[in-house]
Amino acid sequence: MVSAQGDDLAPFTAGSHIDVFLHDGLVRQYSLMSDPKVRNRYQIAVLLEDQSRGGSAFVHQSLRVGDVLEVSHPRNNFEIVEDATSHVFVAGGIGITPFISMAHHCIQNAIPVKLYYCARAPETTAFVDHLTRLFGKNMLLHYDGGDPSKSIDLTKLVASESNAQLYCCGPRGLMTALAEAVEQRGGSLITEHFNPVGSKSNDEAPQRGCFTVELSRSGVSIDVAEGQTIIEALKTANVDVETSCEAGVCGTCVVDYLEGEPIHNDVVLMPDEQKNSLALCVAGCKSKKLVLDL
Ligand code: FES
Repeated sequence: MVSAQGDDLAPFTAGSHIDVFLHDGLVRQYSLMSDPKVRNRYQIAVLLEDQSRGGSAFVHQSLRVGDVLEVSHPRNNFEIVEDATSHVFVAGGIGITPFISMAHHCIQNAIPVKLYYCARAPETTAFVDHLTRLFGKNMLLHYDGGDPSKSIDLTKLVASESNAQLYCCGPRGLMTALAEAVEQRGGSLITEHFNPVGSKSNDEAPQRGCFTVELSRSGVSIDVAEGQTIIEALKTANVDVETSCEAGVCGTCVVDYLEGEPIHNDVVLMPDEQKNSLALCVAGCKSKKLVLDL
C-alpha cells in the first residue's frame, strides 16, 4: 500500500494497525506488518475468512492493484513494553501479522525476542520464510492439524518464559488459554484482538438496551432502547462520537464512565482499564443508569 500522491506515509510504531475503509461504510482494522522504519509503504495481510462479514471477501475478490482506498492514521493498542528485557510473541494463524513489525523493532534495537507460531499445517502457514530470516533459531513452529488435543503446551511455555514479557495475537481460544496459564503461573501478557464481537457465542453477544446514559458534561440523559447499543442511542440523539469497528475491537469509541455498572463485551480494554472505561459500541449495563464522561 503506497500513498496515492507518492508521499511518505504517516509514521507508525511496531504493533500498530490501520482502519481500511473498504466500501459503503465497511471499515476493517489490519495490523501493519512492515518495518516501521520504512515510510513509503504499508504492508497488511488479509486472510480470506470462510465466514467473511464482507471485509476479507471484498479485499480478495474486488480489490485490484491501483485501486485507491482511504486508510486511517496508524493507532497502536499493542505496544512493545519498552522496559522489558526480552519479549516472547505467541501467534496463532493470521495473528502473526503485528509480530512482524514488532520483530523489526526488536531486532533493530538488539532486544532479545522469540516467536512461538501456532498453525494447522505447514502448507497453510503464512510468511515462514520471512519469519525465518527475522527470528532465525528463535522461532518455534507448532502444528496441531486443527486438533485441539494437539495444541501447544501453554503451561510449559509460560513456565519456560517466566522472565519475558509475553504477547499473544490469534484465535480467541489461544488467547484465553494463554491468559489462564499466565494467571496460574504469574507473569505479564499483552493481547491483541481482531475477532469481531459478533463472532462470539450468543451467550457473549453484546447486551443491548434498556437503560439510561447520562452525559456528565451537559447533564443530558438519553435512553438506550431495547435492541440498541449506546452508540446507536447517542447517534439518534445527535451526539457525535467517533467510531470505527463497532465491534469492541479497535478502541476508537472508548470513553470513561463515572457511575453505573457496565457489561463490557469488548476485547480491547484490560480488566483494570474496564474499571473506568468502556467501549460505547458494545457495552451494556447492569444498572439502570450509566454516567459517561462526555
Ligand atoms: S468502535 Fe471500535 S471498539 Fe468501539
